[in-house]
Amino acid sequence: MAKSGITSISLLSLYAPLFLQFCASDAGLLSRILASGGQEISGDNGRYVIVFDAGKFSTTVHVFKFDENANLLKINGSLEVSHDVQEALSAYADNRTAIVSFLGPLLEKALNAVPANLQPETPVLFGAVDELFLLGEKKYEKILKVIRDLLIESPLLYKPEWVTILPAAKQGVYLWETINYLMGNVGHDYSKTVAVLNQDVATVQMAYAVSSEAAANVPKFPRGEEYITAHHIRSNNYYLYSHGYFPYGAYAVRTEILKYTNDSYNYCMTGGYNEQMNYYGEIYNVRASPSGSNYEKCRANVLQALNLKATCYIKNCTFDGAWNGGGGAGVEKIYLTSGFHNTGADVGITNRDIPSTELKLLEYEEVAKVACGAKSLEEAHNLFPIVPAFDLPYLCMDLVYVYSVLVDGFGIDPTKVVTALNTVQYRGSSLTVQWALGAALELVSSEHTKIRDIPYVSSSHTLNQVA
Ligand SMILES: *[C@@H]1O[C@H](CO)[C@@H](O)[C@H](O)[C@H]1NC(C)=O
Ligand SMILES: *[C@@H]1O[C@H](CO)[C@@H](O)[C@H](O)[C@H]1NC(C)=O
Ligand SMILES: *[C@@H]1O[C@H](CO)[C@@H](O)[C@H](O)[C@H]1NC(C)=O
Ligand SMILES: *[C@@H]1O[C@H](CO)[C@@H](O)[C@H](O)[C@H]1NC(C)=O
Repeated sequence: MAKSGITSISLLSLYAPLFLQFCASDAGLLSRILASGGQEISGDNGRYVIVFDAGKFSTTVHVFKFDENANLLKINGSLEVSHDVQEALSAYADNRTAIVSFLGPLLEKALNAVPANLQPETPVLFGAVDELFLLGEKKYEKILKVIRDLLIESPLLYKPEWVTILPAAKQGVYLWETINYLMGNVGHDYSKTVAVLNQDVATVQMAYAVSSEAAANVPKFPRGEEYITAHHIRSNNYYLYSHGYFPYGAYAVRTEILKYTNDSYNYCMTGGYNEQMNYYGEIYNVRASPSGSNYEKCRANVLQALNLKATCYIKNCTFDGAWNGGGGAGVEKIYLTSGFHNTGADVGITNRDIPSTELKLLEYEEVAKVACGAKSLEEAHNLFPIVPAFDLPYLCMDLVYVYSVLVDGFGIDPTKVVTALNTVQYRGSSLTVQWALGAALELVSSEHTKIRDIPYVSSSHTLNQVA
């Protein structure tokens, strides 16, 4: 409950004029408005962390509470306190007022979950989707500055470097930490952990734990790529391999596939479709062939986009010239998340109503063949009625891609049983799988370092091909 008693609706109108001029005028007034806080609970020695996850379509704030051993605790009866708005930063690159008017109320809701006396020691992290790199440095730095200006006025523990565009490899690490922590694997040998393959909008990521011997013998890479990093979670050390692939996420990869057919037909598109796609200023012609989609021809196009023949400087590459980490026990059990799970849910091979589904990758291939066989959008809709209308023309492409990137790209046996993960059951609660928890965990896990000294994103990767 806000001490001020002001609802978010009225705050929304308050924020806009205030922030517009807050550099010049009364920053103190602003701090007083931001000084809303939860009830002080005497003897509450929980460690709170606030994490903003700014995605392509929406922005979410999470509040986590841990005990001194980094065990997740309930806040107001719930392990998962989060609020979101269907607003994305990229839409407002030049509009400070607009960004503040949707972030301000989210921040206020987060502050309401943290007792006021604990706010000054509560870190606030802000991770924006890596696709923002595509706006160019001038624009995305402007956006990050708006956020820094907002957070510095809040009563929270804030550091400018905690406001970042989250590199894909780091997102992979945080997801690995989230999942293995919630599954109870943290504390056990690395060989008992599971690998995470995640599909986001602009990138795909693979993260898994390797042995300390493997970590000590990492090959030297020509461009100084950092594939393996050390992480401290609760009182355990893990060496994690993680790599993010741009532009191989659910939306970005469509452009990578379409660029080969810009002047001709694309055999992944459902019959009758003829549009142009604008992806960060680049135009792509998207033309279905008169005969419609074709599984074999689409697959050839997708394999081309995967760049499987890229120079592999060190043995064991996945695709696009990236090292696969060398393999080992940490990659025996494979968990697929986000887009990999959701694309499957749209066509009935995974299910959003249950925590997880075991499946073989060849199920993606079977359903891809059905989707690519649809002669029209109408037929595709009848076959797969829950696929959103804006994704339907791309359904054949998306399914062929998911199958191909997992089997041909990452080299997973199509008959191996893998798990598509939706939520994790943890102490009687069903928790969604998101990187924010892993980021918070890393921060509270360091017993010997004061939180204020811990970097949030230590290495400054940018998207490898955009930089
Ligand atoms: C900026 O955003 C605000 C609030 O959403 C809106 O009222 C205003 O028209 C926008 N300004 C521009 C220049 O787009
Ligand atoms: C605590 O939970 C109750 C019931 O779900 C809700 O009405 C209230 O707003 C919550 N309080 C805070 C501070 O989130
Ligand atoms: C695709 O073709 C159009 C002209 O039809 C051109 O403007 C555009 O730059 C091309 N896009 C790519 C990615 O080659
Ligand atoms: C390549 O893979 C083989 C077999 O898994 C493994 O023994 C070897 O250590 C790997 N080498 C590198 C550099 O990844």
